[in-house]
Amino acid sequence: MNAKLATLFVSLAVSGYLTFVESYGSGAPTEVCEDMLPQHGAPVQTTPSPYTLTPNRKTVKGGEQITLTLAAKDLSKFKGFMVQARDSTGAPVGSFAPLPVSKGNNEFKGKWKLITCPKGPANNTATHVNPMEKSRVVLTWIAPKNLNKNFNFKYTVAKNGGEYWVGIDTETISVN
Ligand SMILES: *[C@@H]1O[C@H](CO)[C@@H](O)[C@H](O)[C@H]1NC(C)=O
Repeated sequence: MNAKLATLFVSLAVSGYLTFVESYGSGAPTEVCEDMLPQHGAPVQTTPSPYTLTPNRKTVKGGEQITLTLAAKDLSKFKGFMVQARDSTGAPVGSFAPLPVSKGNNEFKGKWKLITCPKGPANNTATHVNPMEKSRVVLTWIAPKNLNKNFNFKYTVAKNGGEYWVGIDTETISVN
């Protein structure tokens, strides 16, 4: 094998390992909207997720908000994430506020961005903006005015380039 070819093989091997975090250093693209699966990466972790996504309420009315906290059960941090609400047909529901609706939210500025996945309203999905390690993210989700079906949140978290937990469901949130 000549040197040029060897270089090509090495760079192909390296790019094959690009993952959710490295290839999506600035957040997940809409191509992963449906399966929330980081592409070109390591196998999905099958162990229980060390991360939890906790809504502050289990029932909601149209137009109301839910505060969601994404955090680790242990002291581990994470680099990448993707969060959305989905109804039973799999369509994204509701949208996220650009920053948590609370005072003193400076700690969260610049940690994530909102993207719009197909079949749902604008800003229906939140994802990281950089691969810096995070220990906690607090999101505000706003129910659509005409909310009439139960749903749940779904999330993917990448601890690093090679370890991630994909498409985990929260408990069902009921419309009240
Ligand atoms: C979506 O979020 C961006 C900020 O991330 C904001 O500027 C824009 O107004 C939002 N759009 C809607 C329709 O909420």
